[in-house]
Amino acid sequence: MNDKLALPVGTTLDRFIMRKQEDFPYATGELSQLLRDIALAAKIVNREINRAGLLDVTGAYGNQNIQGEDQQKLDVIANIRFIRALRNGGEVCAIISEEEENIIQTGNIKGKYVVAMDPLDGSSNIDVNVSIGTIFSVYRRTSDTGNEGTLEDCLQNGTRQVAAGYVIYGSSTMLVYTTGHGVNGFTYDPSLGEFFLSHPNIVTPRTGTVYSCNEGCVNSFPEGVKNYLAYCKESSYSARYIGSLVADFHRNLLKGGIYIYPSTAKSPNGKLRLMYECNSLAFIVEQAGGKATNGSQRIMELEPKELHERCPLIIGSTDMVDKVEEFLKAEVTV
Ligand code: AHG
Ligand code: MN
Ligand code: MN
Repeated sequence: MNDKLALPVGTTLDRFIMRKQEDFPYATGELSQLLRDIALAAKIVNREINRAGLLDVTGAYGNQNIQGEDQQKLDVIANIRFIRALRNGGEVCAIISEEEENIIQTGNIKGKYVVAMDPLDGSSNIDVNVSIGTIFSVYRRTSDTGNEGTLEDCLQNGTRQVAAGYVIYGSSTMLVYTTGHGVNGFTYDPSLGEFFLSHPNIVTPRTGTVYSCNEGCVNSFPEGVKNYLAYCKESSYSARYIGSLVADFHRNLLKGGIYIYPSTAKSPNGKLRLMYECNSLAFIVEQAGGKATNGSQRIMELEPKELHERCPLIIGSTDMVDKVEEFLKAEVTV
């Protein structure tokens, strides 16, 4: 047999998830099914994003979400797609979403899990054909099955995540996730309609030379962050800021670097949301050997008080995050 004529296509996401399930002796397959549901929604959203310029789905939806931000049509579409896939899958009793004011009850009262999600991250980039993403976290419910999901089920701290991931709709579409045993990345092959394992066991570099933040707001950054940015310039680091957290994070994860969204005059607690953005990426970065903090505390240990709360985010290569913390500490002790 001449194998070279037909090289293997690789490991599909489905097969990978199935194999991983065998690592947990008592796993029932429900989390696996949930991850497959997310992958299905990601494929559908990917299709809609790819054709966005041809369909009437770019631009504003004409509504504001609970956080007072203008919703884009694709924010709304992605929200519907992910909710529908998770509802139909049956494993999730409740969902919280950046785009919804309240908990969404799926009707699956026997479902053991809750999901927190930012269905479409990087809304300002939708209309200009720049990378955008989806971010998700999965928690095991704490209330008994047989009832609707509760606020307590949804407001768990990040250390209690059982899985987290993101999809990046970029030059190619990728799904990156962790279940607490390292981080793996899958690239979508549209011709086969499958995600294939392309980035096994992602380990983020311990340090890097890229910093990502909205430097236009520097005047209202904390002194420690300003001093760190001066240090980056003295060190001739490169500035890279797309304005889609997923895309900035993904680049820094693979190449080394740091993403900073500190408190600003306009957003005293930072802009990013603890439950939909920060916890999920914090779990992933830690699993890849990096670090995530709000400046003084580990992101995953912050106790959430409300669904839509925000927190400052400093995330990426461990040595770089440590350095920012040093600068912030020096600011406090001066
Ligand atoms: P979302 O589109 O989900 O509201 O998130 C936007 C976030 C994040 O993706 C990005 O890094 C940040 O907002 C950009 O904010 P600035 O425009 O203030 O830099
Ligand atoms: Mn976002
Ligand atoms: Mn969003």
